[in-house]
Amino acid sequence: MKQEREKFSGRLALLAAFAGSAIGLGNIWRFPYMAGENGGAAFIVIYLLCSLLVALPIFFTESLLGRSSGKGMVSTIKTFFNGKAGRKWCGLLIVAPLLITSFYSVVGGWALDYFIRACTGVFGRISKEEAVAFFGEYSSSVFEPIISHIIFLTITAAIVARGLKKGIEKFNNITVPMLFVLILAIVGYSCSLPGATGGINYLLKPDFGKITPGVLASAMGQSFFSLSLGVGTILVFSSYMKKDESIVSAGFFTVIFDTVFAILAGFAIIPAVFSAGIEANAGPSLVFETLPYIFASMGDVSPILSYLVPILFFLSILGAAITSEISMLEVLVEYFVEEKHLSRRKATFLCFGVCVAIGIICSLSFGPLSWIQIRGNNIFGLLDKVSSNLLMILGSLLFAVVVGWKMDRNKVRSELTNEGTNKVSVKLFPLFYFWVRYIVPVMLVLIFITNIFN
Ligand code: TRP
Repeated sequence: MKQEREKFSGRLALLAAFAGSAIGLGNIWRFPYMAGENGGAAFIVIYLLCSLLVALPIFFTESLLGRSSGKGMVSTIKTFFNGKAGRKWCGLLIVAPLLITSFYSVVGGWALDYFIRACTGVFGRISKEEAVAFFGEYSSSVFEPIISHIIFLTITAAIVARGLKKGIEKFNNITVPMLFVLILAIVGYSCSLPGATGGINYLLKPDFGKITPGVLASAMGQSFFSLSLGVGTILVFSSYMKKDESIVSAGFFTVIFDTVFAILAGFAIIPAVFSAGIEANAGPSLVFETLPYIFASMGDVSPILSYLVPILFFLSILGAAITSEISMLEVLVEYFVEEKHLSRRKATFLCFGVCVAIGIICSLSFGPLSWIQIRGNNIFGLLDKVSSNLLMILGSLLFAVVVGWKMDRNKVRSELTNEGTNKVSVKLFPLFYFWVRYIVPVMLVLIFITNIFN
């Protein structure tokens, strides 16, 4: 007998799941740097506009697809294609979440390793050169990062294998609030350091002169990645939503939580960077090279804090990474349960194995396989770019076209407005529908083309 599909037990669990998926490495290592580089508060305003005008409508389309079908991504999209060939192609939709789950867990593994190291106190007296050299050596080594990657995926898989309520919900309900507490504590510490005001001004001073088309495109890309759009995460989580929950408010709250967390991460990191008198640099190096040193250099002020803060910081990265990884792995596991009729345990085990394998290749691409360079990227960088810049956009385009052009208008309306009972969304529906049919696809195509040329 077919089991009934599990549903989130309530609104908070649902929001914790969406927020947990959205809040991740993207918020901590990309947003602070991007905001600082690209006009501070001006970037934050642009980012919010992108989130509200483009990302949020896509959130709604993805979410309403999932809730209305009560199925996973491939099963849902399949119903809109009649031909056998078209249905077959739908299986390819899992490629993007598969790639993201795999390379994301490599960085998750780093976070795990750094967390453990922080606990042992090794960052206590590290110099800047040592911190940089350490990361270079560490990430290019063979065994350690691979082992941590496997442990990170094992933790995630163990949670996903337990199912929605006993696994995912339980973990998110504790972790997501904890993330906010942790980041707030670090913000307090960071902003109280001597010289932190420079960093606070750097983030707050709006410089609209820095907003170029390129910055606009990256703000857009960042908001897509940060809200986990275009690869089925939101769709699958929404299929676990009860019918009386509102898609519109879930979307708004997710954007709010995600953006607030990203801004908090900015205030946790940039003032500390300024206080240490060094340049805020990009990406993984900010988190894994600069920060261990910065925290260490604070040791002169208070040894206990310089021991404690890195622990809290890497714990928050680790927690944020696990809640995001869960949401991606769930897309894959759901697919094998629903489409291939595997048990949840078997499906999780299978996905775990495949992601471990792809992740190992990604991890090695920083070391022994670093000679494989494709247009200036190693394998990790390539998978990151292809999935974030191309596949997520294509997926979002597919969802927008399906909802705007293939789905029955009344059905779309009834899902979005909870059968007309949600008055605000009833009013906004015509605008939304027009937006999703015409504006969103054009924007997505433009972003896609820009990204291809970049
Ligand atoms: N949003 C997460 C972050 O900011 C990453 C993430 C989770 C994601 N699920 C996703 C990205 C699905 C793309 C697609 O780090």
